[in-house]
Amino acid sequence: MSTPTATPTGRCPVAHDASDRKTARGADAAAPAVEQRDGTWHVRSYAAVRQVLRDADATRQAGFNAELATRTGLRPPVLFEDGVAHRDHRTAIARFFTPKTVDDAYRALMEEASDALIADLQRRGRADLSDLSLDLAMQVAARVVGLTDSRAPGMAQRLEKILALERLERLPALRRVASMLRVNLHVLRFFLQDVRPAIRARRKAPREDVISHLIDKGYKDGEILIECITYGAAGMATTREFIVMAAWHLLEHEDLRRRYLAAEEPERHRVLHEILRLEPVVGHLYRRATADVAVELDGATTTIPAGALIDLDVRAANADADAVGAAPLYLRPDRERAPRVQEPVLSFGDGSHRCPGAFIAIKESDAFLQRLLRLPLTVVGEPKLGWNDLIEGYEVRGFEVAVGATPAAA
Ligand code: HEM
Repeated sequence: MSTPTATPTGRCPVAHDASDRKTARGADAAAPAVEQRDGTWHVRSYAAVRQVLRDADATRQAGFNAELATRTGLRPPVLFEDGVAHRDHRTAIARFFTPKTVDDAYRALMEEASDALIADLQRRGRADLSDLSLDLAMQVAARVVGLTDSRAPGMAQRLEKILALERLERLPALRRVASMLRVNLHVLRFFLQDVRPAIRARRKAPREDVISHLIDKGYKDGEILIECITYGAAGMATTREFIVMAAWHLLEHEDLRRRYLAAEEPERHRVLHEILRLEPVVGHLYRRATADVAVELDGATTTIPAGALIDLDVRAANADADAVGAAPLYLRPDRERAPRVQEPVLSFGDGSHRCPGAFIAIKESDAFLQRLLRLPLTVVGEPKLGWNDLIEGYEVRGFEVAVGATPAAA
């Protein structure tokens, strides 16, 4: 690390040299590994973030509006569950996410959907990559969940409107109510058009998908609806953004693009994991301490007290040179990580809530990007970065590509 900052609770986990990170923000600047500020505990080093994520017995989910959503009285979705109920739920749904299931049940869909999107791009001549990635990510997530009986096209757009929900706890009361009313309308539409037909079809004939499993476990329609929205946020919106970000990096680094296209699957995945490490789609995770949380750093223990809100800075942790080696803000698929640090580092989370869809996300991204990046592409629309408050992540819009030479209109 280039400019460590000594603090009572650790040192700066981020190296502050030049960067390949497209989503660099002021907030990435020097900051202690663990500190309390404005009533929140901020955790930034890889080791400390991982410890908190693995301390499931002393923490509960506090991100994604969880603390407001869990007051509805309905059974919470998997992302908001804790303890034994959460463990049992994860064990039960694990079968939908194994590499074998991905190969047997979703690979053909990923390939066929990618082929269709590329054929459409070639026919039309140009497209915004975030439209293509939304379509693909929606189709794959819908298959895993079982949202395959919609009454009208446009499910991705219906979900997108719901996911535009702001971080409610930061809003004044009136705006919070207005925001919730607006979203409730979109939720109703999504329920009637997409979720209810899927539930009805599966009550008659169960299949191997999440909705059939939830029906089997006695979930009410409203609870299934919430679970579907959760998968929309956790599975669809995230993968959509990652695919566009990966295309951006690979189109910009010609040597990396060539290497990626020539490589076998493990190496292709390593390249994608390194892009995801550098550009985590979910930038911050949140937990509420339900008991004291002890964080060991450099031989000293910091205790985060019960009741505290904990902000886990995935962007900083993924750029912690102690975990990911030198020049952490550079894109280097062959970097030497510390032992047991995974390639995507904490981009899929860790501990009990670690993303079950990690393998699906990388497989579908790879299926699409391999096909896309073999085309003779010209970038005709500059990508614009936005930020999604709810998942504390980036959004890339306006990244338009044309097949072949730049069309006159561009
Ligand atoms: C690049 C794409 C993806 C990224 C970056 C991502 C990231 C994450 C992260 C960071 C979490 C942990 C949240 C926490 O600890 O609070 C998570 C959880 C989750 N993800 Fe993903 N995800 C991706 C794709 C997917 C896909 C494709 C699916 C399913 C089709 C999926 C389903 C889920 C579910 C159900 C959870 C909740 C798990 C639990 O709470 O036990 N994700 N994801």
